[in-house]
Amino acid sequence: VHGATALSPAADLAGRRVVVSAGGTREPLDPVRFLGNRSSGRQGYALAETAAARGASVVLVAANVTLPDPAGVEVVRVATAAELGTAVRTAAADADAVVMAAAVADFRPAEVVDAKIKKGTADPEPLRLVRNDDVLAALVADRSTRGPAGQVVVGFAAETGDSHADWLAHGRTKLAAKGCDLLVVNRVGDGLGFEVPDNAAVVLAPDGAQTEVPLGPKEDLADVVWDLVVARLV
Ligand code: CTP
Repeated sequence: VHGATALSPAADLAGRRVVVSAGGTREPLDPVRFLGNRSSGRQGYALAETAAARGASVVLVAANVTLPDPAGVEVVRVATAAELGTAVRTAAADADAVVMAAAVADFRPAEVVDAKIKKGTADPEPLRLVRNDDVLAALVADRSTRGPAGQVVVGFAAETGDSHADWLAHGRTKLAAKGCDLLVVNRVGDGLGFEVPDNAAVVLAPDGAQTEVPLGPKEDLADVVWDLVVARLV
């Protein structure tokens, strides 16, 4: 039996239902154009795969991701922030944990037209945007209306420092504003962030706890997130 322990994955999420959102939403302007972002979905997919390997029943809400479906995971495909919000909140109703790794558009075009916008000859009109619902904040609100039985809600944030505060301080402010249980903060800017492997992540908790995750594969960060979630499950 030498090595048997190493071969059997920890089943500490067995019997648990988890929801993970991944990818980046697209907000249509017309039938051929959208406002989008550069999220690949890799971190969310790693979270879903890792949770399944640890025994969870997983719903993965995927926004515009081209990666293959992870084995043993229920994948719900969405495009817009509104669709993502509906899918995540529905799946979250009976979930033990929800991890919002998706990059959700804060705004969408105020109007979506049925026919392709033509170049014409007049000066272009400025684009008018309206606010999308904050899905993470809605999850926290949904949970509190359901009563005290705990659901662990995890957010992600990409932060830079600015003249007001450093990136970590912005993360702390966001954790408090969103009211979630954990916030995974990625430092971006200065050559860090999207499409580069060099990503400094720190997981913040409301009690002030701070877990630094060294540079490594997205599965390693995923395992740290699930370790922290498991510690908070009732
Ligand atoms: N998020 C969400 N719904 C939105 C926007 C964001 O659920 N409409 C979630 C993301 O999935 C992520 C977290 O909120 O887990 C942080 O998103 P971020 O865009 O950094 O937060 P904002 O509140 O939009 O703050 P900022 O002003 O820094 O953009």
